[in-house]
Amino acid sequence: MAVMKVARDYIVIGSGLAGLTFALKIAEYGSVALITKDAVEESATRYAQGGIASVMAEDDSVDLHVSDTIEAGRGLCQEDVVRCIIREGPARVRELIRLGTQFTRTQGEDSFHLTREGGHSKRRILHADDFTGLEIERTLIEAVHAKPNIEIYPYYMGIDIITRSNIDPAVQPGSSQDEALGLYALNEQTGEVVTFTGKAILLATGGAGKVYLYTSNPDTATGDGIALAYRAGAKIANMEFFQFHPTCLYHPEAKSFLISEAVRGEGGILRLKNGDTFMENYHSLGCLAPRDIVARAIDYEMKKSGDDCVFLDVTHLAGYRTRERFPNIYKTCKEFGFDMTEQLIPVVPAAHYMCGGVMVDLNGQTSIRRLFASGEVCYSGLHGANRLASNSLLEGLVLSHRAAAKATDLRRPSKKLEQLQERLPEWDSGDAVESDESVVVSHNWDEIRRLMWNYVGIVRSNKRLYRARRRVEMLLEEIKEYYWNFKITRDTLELRNIALTAQLIINGALERKESRGLHYNLDYPKPDDTHDVMHTVLQDTVQRLITTPNTRVKNNE
Ligand code: SIN
Repeated sequence: MAVMKVARDYIVIGSGLAGLTFALKIAEYGSVALITKDAVEESATRYAQGGIASVMAEDDSVDLHVSDTIEAGRGLCQEDVVRCIIREGPARVRELIRLGTQFTRTQGEDSFHLTREGGHSKRRILHADDFTGLEIERTLIEAVHAKPNIEIYPYYMGIDIITRSNIDPAVQPGSSQDEALGLYALNEQTGEVVTFTGKAILLATGGAGKVYLYTSNPDTATGDGIALAYRAGAKIANMEFFQFHPTCLYHPEAKSFLISEAVRGEGGILRLKNGDTFMENYHSLGCLAPRDIVARAIDYEMKKSGDDCVFLDVTHLAGYRTRERFPNIYKTCKEFGFDMTEQLIPVVPAAHYMCGGVMVDLNGQTSIRRLFASGEVCYSGLHGANRLASNSLLEGLVLSHRAAAKATDLRRPSKKLEQLQERLPEWDSGDAVESDESVVVSHNWDEIRRLMWNYVGIVRSNKRLYRARRRVEMLLEEIKEYYWNFKITRDTLELRNIALTAQLIINGALERKESRGLHYNLDYPKPDDTHDVMHTVLQDTVQRLITTPNTRVKNNE
């Protein structure tokens, strides 16, 4: 008989740097179920090339890193958050090193090699060649495997967070009485739905690049945590700020493979097809301008010339150094037919990082009690309207550490919580049948990604945004119907999440009547500095029961 209820002290959703760090720390205080919808090794962290920005060099300072971050964030960063994360970063980085992460060292091996990326005034990015994320993920997974009280549930996908307001009509969703009690999760291998309960839940599900047609993100980046948190009534902020990485490999089979900004940090130059440089026309930092500016400049130049891509040139650098410094990028480009030491690399921008997310405080606490978030899924106030390169692994490390410290406040047994959790209904598939129309899922998926790319991309307008909103609303209706009638699968759940995330990005973009950072709207081409800078906060406070598709129909969701 399959186990349909799992009660642990802490529930972690996601197995990237943020989830693994939290799990490792909180495991000192109780049992942990770590749920991940793919293999435990699969996460966006694994693909991070650049590194971790942290103040490590003699000629660097917290103040300088803070001011670079705030400059990139275009007036939307919260300075106390920026300062705290940057100040605490070096200690967290040293913990990683003690755990065994091998960052690249300088030639004499006596100190770490620090690289530079767009918007940084100093060399401050620790890296492990050009596969930093893989090295960090390896270290953290080894450490997690050594902890007997962390159980990993691979290929389990969260369906919905279960809140108190779901079972108690007297509690208003999103109100101060509301709290997270558990999670329904699909066992992808058996098709069964398991109810997980805990004293605290951490969302560390990463980003949502798959909402766009072209993305540097892995296939798992489907906005799951955003959708779970929003449906649970948590506050979501600044979703209009989606960062496009300026340089992804332009090749039909390369799936927007990332060419790290560190390539420009080490001297790479952007060129047009005719060989001309252009970034000096857009910013004094040229090719190392902040990402929003570089991506928009490339988009503009491509539209002006009608070319399909621009080019990144490292042929003037010593070829052996390029091969040594960027072994992964060199090998991948070679596989696609480009020897970057001798040829220009064709590049285009692609969706890369979700700067908005589930609103959290400096302890990773969301607006719902017992629900925490860390990493790309959250909005802490660090990135503002445009993330400074390589600040994200830093944010995940610091916030997960702080969230684990805070979540220990909830560790004492609570009779009231246990009684509430006993009342959680088990999932019941009702009359749902196997789908005979999977084509609906793949068609809708494709349509969302295409319309987001065309209407809600690097350059937006009101007309395009309204058009996108109408289409997404219709698609959400279709998806809801499909979700009610057929047995759920990972594909259905991902589609439901991606559609909701798309809607939140569009709604955020429509609420912001200005251009700022990553959000550029032709109808309001300038920042509005006449008012206090605003955050676009979205929240769903509709009362609903969430047990089964049939119950949802009855409750007219
Ligand atoms: C890169 O290597 O360019 C990506 C780093 C980042 O997104 O922070």
